[in-house]
Amino acid sequence: MGKKVVVLGTGGTIAGRSERGSDNVGYKAGQVGVQSLLQDIAPLQAALQGRTLVAEQVAQVDSKDMGFAVWAVLAQRCAQHLQDAEVDAVLITHGTDTLEETAFFLEQVLPPALLQAKPLVLTCAMRPASALTPDGPQNVLDAVAVALDGTARGVLVVCAGAVHSARLVQKSHTYRVDAFDSGDAGPLAVVEEGRVRWFGVSASTTPSHAVDLQAWAKVAWPRVEIVMNYVGASGAMVRSLARPDDTVAPLRGLVVAGTGNGTLHVDLEAALLEVQAQGVQVVRASRCARGQVVQGEATAALPHSRGLSPVKARIALTLQLMA
Ligand code: SIN
Repeated sequence: MGKKVVVLGTGGTIAGRSERGSDNVGYKAGQVGVQSLLQDIAPLQAALQGRTLVAEQVAQVDSKDMGFAVWAVLAQRCAQHLQDAEVDAVLITHGTDTLEETAFFLEQVLPPALLQAKPLVLTCAMRPASALTPDGPQNVLDAVAVALDGTARGVLVVCAGAVHSARLVQKSHTYRVDAFDSGDAGPLAVVEEGRVRWFGVSASTTPSHAVDLQAWAKVAWPRVEIVMNYVGASGAMVRSLARPDDTVAPLRGLVVAGTGNGTLHVDLEAALLEVQAQGVQVVRASRCARGQVVQGEATAALPHSRGLSPVKARIALTLQLMA
């Protein structure tokens, strides 16, 4: 048995502060260091069951500003700790706004052998650390319970007593502390008084991209954007994104969040087919919160996202273009 649990801090509301304890929205995210956050959680020592807690600040950002540079460092730190025989599990504290993207990204790029051996658990909070009743401390305790459960594997997200897979989890509420769900499948498990009750298999089922994390942190990431279908959508946005512009990298990929089963306004679809013919890779996802694009003849010209939400389809396409 290993002797350490590592917590990598990246910022977010869990590390946020506001002037007044009753203010759950007018705060600044990413203010409290991860070491200090953990120090304030009194029951954490008991939850660690004798293991040493190692806290490391990888970033201190509001996750709306998360970027590829932090991801590259985070992936390397996760890989390094996961392959350390002394480490039983790695946790990440993260903002809720892009947590599902970071979780999916890490699942895609970390070596499957590491993720099949140990869990990587992301957690968060909807209320700042300065709130009258912050949700972060309980989420951290639940995340530790999941991490040390013994059967947990792969990249998992823990929030409000529910355990989600990196592939399916989605932020689905703007304000409630129970802000995440896993769509039709539901959560993998719940945490009750420090015990984990599993409903599904926790191991990652998504094949990872073979990535040299060190080399890859130095290369420019391909530009992949997201557009949406809506009433009156035209092709103007797509054509403007694809137009050569010296100030930005050339467009390499586009994910379209279609309506319903990935359907597209006829003008938007025409523009997407146009840029696809010019070499831009186009992937069709759906703006619906549940279900996935079911391929049929009418949608065949633009490949679908294989059940991924638009933001995760964008990550998958970016990694595919980098491979
Ligand atoms: C963030 O995503 O960093 C801010 C919002 C949150 O964590 O809930």
